[in-house]
Amino acid sequence: MISYHELRDIALECVASVTSTINICSTKEQSTDIKKKSSSSDYVTSLDRQIESETVQFIRKNRTSDGILGEEGAYASGTSGIRWIIDPIDGTSNFVYGVPYFSISIAIEADGKIVAGVVADLSSNDVFDAVKGHGSRCNNEIITVNDNDSLQSAIIATGFSYRPERREFQGGMLQHILPRIGDIRRFGSAALDLCWLATGRLDAFYEEGLNLWDYAAGSLIVSEAGGTVRTTNLAHGINLLLATNTRLDKEFQILINNALQH
Ligand code: IPD
Ligand code: CA
Ligand code: CA
Repeated sequence: MISYHELRDIALECVASVTSTINICSTKEQSTDIKKKSSSSDYVTSLDRQIESETVQFIRKNRTSDGILGEEGAYASGTSGIRWIIDPIDGTSNFVYGVPYFSISIAIEADGKIVAGVVADLSSNDVFDAVKGHGSRCNNEIITVNDNDSLQSAIIATGFSYRPERREFQGGMLQHILPRIGDIRRFGSAALDLCWLATGRLDAFYEEGLNLWDYAAGSLIVSEAGGTVRTTNLAHGINLLLATNTRLDKEFQILINNALQH
């Protein structure tokens, strides 16, 4: 049976191969084919589709009977018990505007659990990875979360839905959270936010309404770097992802619960 390390290595080779064939620098020219999806700010470009298709081709060459789930529609049910979960560009609006904060995220699930993940920052060439039970790395160096234990000074990242009605709810939560923390960041790629938490550049992250491809790889990278990740399904279809450096876990859970009651 293939090991989790070998699966992680296929994902790393895949990212190296796919990124070597695309020219990220000329984002504006590459993105002439920009379309909107669920709302006027939810973009998809030809590069999202190209990366997803090349990623799937690479995986297929190595793993013929695995399942696949890609944000832009790639799907195979598979028969091996292993599934690849792909976000070809996480942070597409940053990519469209030339803001250097967008990534490719590949998670590998075995028997329903995420066992390896790779997130590559497509504008800086930082590559983050994790193997379940074996820690997290950035460019092959071990990374760990920071040890800040003060919520009042914590730098916390979040994100907002593309749907206006969800934003109203998310804005209400933020109104409660903001006066009780150090500061907030909205960078625009949940996968990278999680990796930044894993390297100690952030103290916590939360977002309501993420899809599996946004957080599957990044969550493992956080937990393998010593952080704590919680996913909660609440009433009315609210699903929350909370991730901290572990020291802030309890206090942050209380803050979020209070914010939900407001
Ligand atoms: C989005 C980014 C963003 C988050 C959104 C996601 P996309 O993914 O991760 O940071 O706030 O909820 O949908 O659309 O750029 O792949
Ligand atoms: Ca995404
Ligand atoms: Ca995406």
